[in-house]
Amino acid sequence: MVDTSVKLCDIQLKNPVIPASGTFGFGHEFAHWYDLNVLGAICLKGTTKDPRFGNETPRIAEAPAGMLNAVGLQNPGIEAVLETELPALRKLYSGPVIANISGFSKEEYVFCCEKADQSPHVDIIEVNISCPNVQSGGMSFGASAKDAGEITKAVRAVCKKPIFMKLTPNVTDIAEIARACEANGADGISLINTLLAMRIDIKNRKPVLANTTGGLSGPAVFPVALRMVWQVYKAVKLPIIGMGGVSCPEDVVEMMLAGATAVQVGASNLQNPFACPEIIDGLPPLLERLGVSRIAELIGAAHY
Ligand SMILES: Cc1cc2nc3c(=O)[nH]c(=O)nc-3n(C[C@H](O)[C@H](O)[C@H](O)COP(=O)(O)O)c2cc1C
Repeated sequence: MVDTSVKLCDIQLKNPVIPASGTFGFGHEFAHWYDLNVLGAICLKGTTKDPRFGNETPRIAEAPAGMLNAVGLQNPGIEAVLETELPALRKLYSGPVIANISGFSKEEYVFCCEKADQSPHVDIIEVNISCPNVQSGGMSFGASAKDAGEITKAVRAVCKKPIFMKLTPNVTDIAEIARACEANGADGISLINTLLAMRIDIKNRKPVLANTTGGLSGPAVFPVALRMVWQVYKAVKLPIIGMGGVSCPEDVVEMMLAGATAVQVGASNLQNPFACPEIIDGLPPLLERLGVSRIAELIGAAHY
């Protein structure tokens, strides 16, 4: 019998597979398709202080082996998430929950993280300093080591629960940003968010997305994400949640070999709502074929 469990900080996950923020709503929507309790954990849609309608449409575009999104953090606001969405999820799911927090100022991050920290339904707080689809805040905080460190320090001061800083790949030196988060009290690092990208409609000669640019994700970005997980594993001693293009059990193993303790699955959920349970079901036979009895032994095992 293969042991697929992993530990994120002190939190036990029955397997390392987690649906990624923004691709799984608030979780309960997917209970129509399958029992959510098969998942390692659930990561909620990015949440801000006030409700947001997000960007103008079109805000989704296709790309070879991937997709672009410019959703722009559509969400009902932190109060509604904690008082309505989370209790609805908890009726259907008893495993670990990761709240994903976004903001447009340090004060907004602090306000939302403090609220999430006080919720009995939240186990881990993932702080998104990497959204490429909003005009201010978002990715700009994750693009500078100084700002990333400042946000980390500020949310650390108001949170007792584990904090994972979610990083953008749209930087020159991802290791420097991760080190700034570690130095300022982060418990873990999540990466990667989407890669800044665009498409143009060749008939009307206009950008496809109303926002002009969006974030590329899906299998096309997997090797980039893997390289960044590898670099961050070398740079810090924190646990890593790896993501970016994961679509099959083999990708999970590769991410873990690069240094991830757990793995999030994003765009694949939009292509196939059963992506996560299918990946989870595929792990034990794959591990048996690879002669691995405990999945946790893969974490960082490709490093020399
Ligand atoms: C439609 C869509 C919405 C997203 N919304 C969020 C969000 O609210 N917060 C966040 O941190 N990341 C968000 N992301 C980024 C994903 O969580 C993930 O980091 C990224 O898509 C890479 O994983 P993937 O290639 O498996 O999609 C979103 C991605 C997509 C495709």
